Amino acid sequence: MITIVGSGKVGSSMALQIAMKELDKNILLLDIVEGLPQGEAMDITHLLAERGIDVHVKGSNDYGEMRGSNIVVIVAGVGRKPGMTRMDLLNTNASIVKDVAKKVAEYAKDCTIITVTNPLDPMTYVTLKVTNFKPNKVMGMGNMLDLSRFKSFIADAIKLSEHSIQALVIGEHGENMLPLIRYSSVSGIPLTKFLSNEKAKGVVESTRKVAAEVIALKGATIYAPANAVTHMVDAIVKDRKEVMPVATYLNGEYGVKDICIGVPAAIGANGVEQIIELELDAEEKMWFMKGVESVKSAVSGLAL
Ligand code: NAI
Repeated sequence: MITIVGSGKVGSSMALQIAMKELDKNILLLDIVEGLPQGEAMDITHLLAERGIDVHVKGSNDYGEMRGSNIVVIVAGVGRKPGMTRMDLLNTNASIVKDVAKKVAEYAKDCTIITVTNPLDPMTYVTLKVTNFKPNKVMGMGNMLDLSRFKSFIADAIKLSEHSIQALVIGEHGENMLPLIRYSSVSGIPLTKFLSNEKAKGVVESTRKVAAEVIALKGATIYAPANAVTHMVDAIVKDRKEVMPVATYLNGEYGVKDICIGVPAAIGANGVEQIIELELDAEEKMWFMKGVESVKSAVSGLAL
């Protein structure tokens, strides 16, 4: 069973995408608001019936129902309003994520957790500390969404198919995210062959800023984050050992300790199966470490 805690905009969209891909026979939507997860589950069930998809989607307010889940996604919490940064959500969402993580540890102690609630890297750390799960069993989705935006801007700038673009975004899922032009390619050909320095800077800048633009326009980002989580769930369920950037616990890798932040990792049935260390140049390192400092200072103020 795949459980999604938080049946709001992102959680419900994710349930739909996971069900459409038949990544599990059973999907559970949980929320504290009575009626909301049940209503979302019904709406999705009706769509699945017409499509002939044999996936059972259930909505509930009872955390005990997550017993036996092999994957739990934590997407409960408030989203940012126009003008806010993700870090502005820190205290409110830390107390929500703490509550939820305790319940996950109680009812689904063998699951793999994907944290989505913002600010993503601190919330992944909170989840890890509160559950006391092994570090490979807790990861956060932030960079996979940044990556989808990065790819979209690259395709637009070079006027070539999105299919041929491989790219990478690491670091904080926030103000200091690090889209890596140097580790991006077009069917194996370095991206720098297609993009001038100046254009590359523009693509990176747009990637950093675009979430705020979507939030200003429609109030939230929904489909792309739900898709990014679905991609991670797919890698776990199918034991793909797919390399993708996720927020994970670092214990010396990249020269940092006791922090969750985005780095490339192989994702499979055992969660984060391998962390891949990249050589970063001076500027890349500067952005990565700014992210590290930002996440460290956020979690240092939380009682865990
Ligand atoms: P939303 O407000 O539509 O849904 C959040 C849901 O969480 C609500 O239904 C609320 O009742 C529920 N909730 C609150 N406390 C709960 C608890 N203790 N147990 C169970 N459910 C609880 O918000 P939306 O747009 O779905 O966003 C959810 C979170 O995901 C936000 O923190 C947002 O910033 C984050 N997010 C993260 C992204 C990422 O890339 N990591 C991308 C998009 C959103």
